[in-house]
Amino acid sequence: MKNQKLIGPISQLITMRALPLRGALSDDQLEIIPNAGIWIKNDKIEAIGSFESLRKQVDWNYTSRKFLEGNYVALPGFIDCHTHICFGGSRAKDFTLRNAGKSYLEISKAGGGIWDTVQQTRALSVFALAKKTFDHAQRHLSEGVTTIEVKSGYGLSVSEEIKMLSAIQKTNNRTAADLIPSCLAAHALPRDFEGNKTEYIREITEKLLPIIHKEKLCNRVDAFVEQSAFNPEEVLPYFKKAKELGFDITVHADQFSTGGSKLAIEIGAASADHLEASGKEEIQRLAQSNTIGVALPGASIGLGCGFTPARQLLDQGGILAIASDWNPGSAPMGDLLTQASILATFEKLTTAEVFAGITFRAAATLKLSDRGTLTPGQLADFNLFPTSDYREILYQQGKMKPEMVWKNGKRV
Ligand code: NIG
Ligand code: FE
Repeated sequence: MKNQKLIGPISQLITMRALPLRGALSDDQLEIIPNAGIWIKNDKIEAIGSFESLRKQVDWNYTSRKFLEGNYVALPGFIDCHTHICFGGSRAKDFTLRNAGKSYLEISKAGGGIWDTVQQTRALSVFALAKKTFDHAQRHLSEGVTTIEVKSGYGLSVSEEIKMLSAIQKTNNRTAADLIPSCLAAHALPRDFEGNKTEYIREITEKLLPIIHKEKLCNRVDAFVEQSAFNPEEVLPYFKKAKELGFDITVHADQFSTGGSKLAIEIGAASADHLEASGKEEIQRLAQSNTIGVALPGASIGLGCGFTPARQLLDQGGILAIASDWNPGSAPMGDLLTQASILATFEKLTTAEVFAGITFRAAATLKLSDRGTLTPGQLADFNLFPTSDYREILYQQGKMKPEMVWKNGKRV
């Protein structure tokens, strides 16, 4: 049985290994192996190195070959650590309203926004919802995203949140990508809930969290901390209970107003995501913490507002990951590489910082230690881009897509 493969030669293999988790990175810190090969055994990387020497090392009785013609750059499979790709319907209407001058918050107050998607999501069966989620995951995978975090948050009742998490689980069983589910039941106060925000939080804390814990539907819990959603005091009992049950915490923080990132740090969240409204004080606090700052350039592009101060965070020694936030409202594009490339031009990020933000630093956000670099022992998740120079990838601002995507040692 040939359970091993040798792939190469690869013009440049960017390992992304042995780089610091925190702070700024320069491109000359990147380890680049020229004329490289990747030796895969089952779903893992057995070795990387010079193609010629690996060719001599492998046992050809057990190894099939994939000889590449032309130039390729290899990078770890991308990790999108913040998405909402499980949803029903569309919000094209909101998009045109925003471009006609209405704000995201005004649209939401008028009954559009998240509540609109909640109704369109509730209208779908778990199977129809899984089908939509699958289509999104497959598109992401074809663009090199091999691990995708996916949030609930458009169900907003105990049973509908469970339906969403079940749809994500069903999709995970079908797609080659790895989906990492998160519970975002505290996304907004549902309009049909009979009670106030505190009462809704009590409902999801007491009824929903124990069920998803018992059913192992996810191990991450998220909330939208914002004046229009929930303030820090309101969500605290939900996060406390989630921590007690052993969930990892992540927070939608400082998107339009501050407060969320401070709470995220105080409760020891794995990440604080958005941060478009973070000021000097918030960034400094975050940089001194172990909470990872996640920039979501897709939301800045989708809403036409400023970017997360990613440069500041890195320069002060913070940890930066970059994610797409793919959702039907604020970030409908769902193209991680394009968005990360655009963030780089506005925030002056090096190629190393961008690649780190969508590989090993994103893996750290999801507490995954088996991926994010091209190192022996890690999952064989990688992308081959049709170029001889890694700098071409961001230079083309997302238009160059990987020609081949490998997940768990198999080409997808
Ligand atoms: O990350 N900010 C809150 N939640 C999502 C948007 C959800 C929506 O508009 O449907 C976000 O931007
Ligand atoms: Fe989001």
